[in-house]
Amino acid sequence: MNAPAVRLTLHSSMHKRPGSRPTRTQPSRAPRHLTKPPLRLQPTTLWDYPSQDYGDAQQGLPGYKGATPSYIIWNLLQRYTNENDLVVDCFCGSGTTLDVARDLNRRALGYDVHPARKDIFRVDARKLPPELTSKVDFVFIDPPYGTHLDYGNDPRDIGKLDAADPAYYTAMDQVFSEIHRLLKPAHRMALYVSDSYVHGQGFHPIGFGLFSLLCKRFTAIDIISVVRHNKTLEMGNYRKAAEEGNFFLRGFNYLFVMEKV
Ligand SMILES: C[S@@+](CC[C@H](N)C(=O)[O-])C[C@H]1O[C@@H](n2cnc3c(N)ncnc32)[C@H](O)[C@@H]1O
Repeated sequence: MNAPAVRLTLHSSMHKRPGSRPTRTQPSRAPRHLTKPPLRLQPTTLWDYPSQDYGDAQQGLPGYKGATPSYIIWNLLQRYTNENDLVVDCFCGSGTTLDVARDLNRRALGYDVHPARKDIFRVDARKLPPELTSKVDFVFIDPPYGTHLDYGNDPRDIGKLDAADPAYYTAMDQVFSEIHRLLKPAHRMALYVSDSYVHGQGFHPIGFGLFSLLCKRFTAIDIISVVRHNKTLEMGNYRKAAEEGNFFLRGFNYLFVMEKV
C-alpha cells in the first residue's frame, strides 16, 4: 500500500475528547478547581504536558481541531505576566488563551478571522486595533503552520497559504510587525509552531523560518521544545507511512519566547 499523503503537522488536540465537558462560550472570572494534573512551572526548556487541559473545566472549546494545550499558555502567563496584565492572542481559535488568562486574573483580548465564540473579535492579525499600540503586556500566538487544517472560508486565513509559498512568511512578518507595535517596551511574546512535512512534497522548516523573521524585531529570550504526545501519530496509517516512507512524524513543537527591543 502506498503511504498516504498525510500532512504531518497535526496539532496535539486532534485526540481531544469531544463533548467531555460543557462548551464555554462566556468568560468566567471565578477560579476553577485545578486538579488534573497538578499545575507546575516547567523548570527546563524541554516541556512535557500530560493532557490537553487542566482542572475540572476545559480551556478552549471541546473538539476544536488545532487547539493549543492550555498548559503551555498557563506556564507562559505564570512566568511572563502579572495579575491584571493585558494579554492578546491574535490567532485565538477556540479561545484557550482567553480561558487561561481569566483563570489567572489577567485581562485578555482574542482576535481571529474565524471567531469560534462571542468573546473573540473578527480581526485579521495583520491589522490589529490601532488603539492598542504599546498597551499590551504579553502576546501568545499559535498560528496556522501551512495548510494542514481547514479553519474556514475567510480568504484572509493564513492557513490557506502553503508553507512552500513565500507569501506565508510575508503574512507572518506582517503579523510580527503588528505584535511588536502592540507590546509595551521590553515586554514579551511567544510563538508556538511546528515544522511541516508532507509526504511526496517535502520538509519545510517553518520554525527556523519564523524565528529568523522574529529576530528582525525582537530579542530571543528562550527556545523551548514541547514534546507532543499525540496518540493519533502512533496509530494506523501515520506510523506505517513513516516507517515505510522512511520519514519522521513531528515529535515536538517550538516555543519561541521573544522580547520587544
Ligand atoms: C492553530 S489555530 C489557533 C488555536 C488556538 N490557540 C486555540 O487554542 O484554540 C490558528 C487560528 O488562526 C486563525 N487565523 C488564520 N489566519 C488568520 C489571520 N489572518 N488573522 C487572525 N486569525 C487567523 C484561524 O482561523 C485559526 O483559528
